[in-house]
Amino acid sequence: MVTSCFPICVIALAACVLNAGALDTFIAAVYEHAVILANSTETPVSQEDALTLMNKNLDVLEKAIRLAAEKGAQIIVTPEDGIYGWSFTRETIYPYLEDIPDPQVNWIPCTEPNRFGRAPVQKRLSCLARENSIFVAANMGDKKECDASDSNCPPDGRYHYNTDVVFDSEGKLVARYHKYNLFLPEVQFNYPKDPSHVTFDTPFGKFGIFTCFDILFYEPAVVLVNKFEVDSILFPTAWMNTLPHLSAVPFHSSWARGMRVNVLAANLHKTIAHMTGSGIYAPEAVKVYYYDMETESGQLLLSELKSRPRISSNYPPVVDWSAYAKNAKPFTSDQPSFPGLVFFDEFTFIELTKDVGNYTVCQKDLCCHLSYKMSEKRTDEVYALGAFDGLHTVDGEYYLQICTLLKCQTTDLKTCGTPIASAFTKFEAFSLSGTFTTSYVFPQLVLSGTQLASEQHYEVLSDGRLESRSGVPLPILEVALFGRVYEKDPFPGQGDHS
Ligand SMILES: *[C@@H]1O[C@H](CO)[C@@H](O)[C@H](O)[C@H]1NC(C)=O
Ligand SMILES: *[C@@H]1O[C@H](CO)[C@@H](O)[C@H](O)[C@H]1NC(C)=O
Repeated sequence: MVTSCFPICVIALAACVLNAGALDTFIAAVYEHAVILANSTETPVSQEDALTLMNKNLDVLEKAIRLAAEKGAQIIVTPEDGIYGWSFTRETIYPYLEDIPDPQVNWIPCTEPNRFGRAPVQKRLSCLARENSIFVAANMGDKKECDASDSNCPPDGRYHYNTDVVFDSEGKLVARYHKYNLFLPEVQFNYPKDPSHVTFDTPFGKFGIFTCFDILFYEPAVVLVNKFEVDSILFPTAWMNTLPHLSAVPFHSSWARGMRVNVLAANLHKTIAHMTGSGIYAPEAVKVYYYDMETESGQLLLSELKSRPRISSNYPPVVDWSAYAKNAKPFTSDQPSFPGLVFFDEFTFIELTKDVGNYTVCQKDLCCHLSYKMSEKRTDEVYALGAFDGLHTVDGEYYLQICTLLKCQTTDLKTCGTPIASAFTKFEAFSLSGTFTTSYVFPQLVLSGTQLASEQHYEVLSDGRLESRSGVPLPILEVALFGRVYEKDPFPGQGDHS
């Protein structure tokens, strides 16, 4: 069958040409969107009214997409719930949903809008991508009818999925991802049966996509990076900031650093719901970020990223997170340790009583070591070193190992772990490490005002120490090594699918 060779050769040649067109870098864009929310209602609105609301949001996203394209961006990410908001029941979300086909159907909604039934949102997103020659990632709702032949089919005869879609620069649907780890109040949506690993190739690298709460779990986030070896993650989110450890920018950027992958994170902007914090994060550095609790406006961010960070010369080395700590002699102290709650988890703390010192604090298998030097030990601020090794059980169940140095809310030790937004104490030096039993540790450093420190000011050593390096005094709110022990999760490899 000699003739069958011909198409194969052509394909091989095409792949070759594609490779030649490969780009070393690309311009990424994310848009933090001040979503226009629907008025809350108990009865569903009409499809027309739902579309009117969605078009208002799409009008804003359109401006951002055009501007990003004008500035040379090849891809833009918009936030989770960015087209219709979030307070819905199963019934009231329904008029907002569209049937989103599997991308294998090879569909450009902009040119064939009616091929799969009513799809005005997909059409508009596709046209925005096509007219501006830019990849567009957005989050919307997918509906899939089912019947009694499927024993899991909901009583109303359909599945609803929280869904990310990506259209390529010609407007073709290239990715559809159903959020696997729903956050608990997402009653309007169903859990997909299995996690999906949604990836697509571009001349500027291989991309994977997941949504918001997914970032805390093994499936599909870690698998996309480790097994599918994506270069960049698209991350639409509607993230409510929760200090000290789960504020959007510090946490998402620490995940990019810990997983050694690019992350394009687009958050909603809604200060009343503590939603702000978007950014473009490379494995070795935060490229750009936005965090604003003062105004109610959206923000476009752009930055150049490497298409294939794994093969770049400054790709960060693998870190052995316990290498230093497990061989270090614990520091002894005659001070008592004390318990403190951090986002419902009971940490073991020890107070930093002097301007310079060394401490070790342990809980179960985890011992955390800290050496530090403050410019001055203030009497109006208290800092503590904490350790936690246990299962977090509020708003989802996931096993954590955390070493943290944080500012207590007041000088009363009972407030250590309660969120606080500003700090005046400056640290000239610190070195934090822990005896982690996991290789998934996300290092973060948050300064007063929930700002990030520049990478010039600290580093992660390959033996697992998170250290200051410049001697520049930093107003630290919190420094943490946030470890995830996925194999101890009650639902291994997934979120709460009970
Ligand atoms: C919500 O209701 C108010 C008052 O009826 C109306 O003016 C406004 O346009 C509505 N908002 C949306 C998003 O429909
Ligand atoms: C802290 O420990 C280091 C060695 O690890 C030592 O050089 C230093 O003197 C100690 N500092 C204090 C204040 O105990």
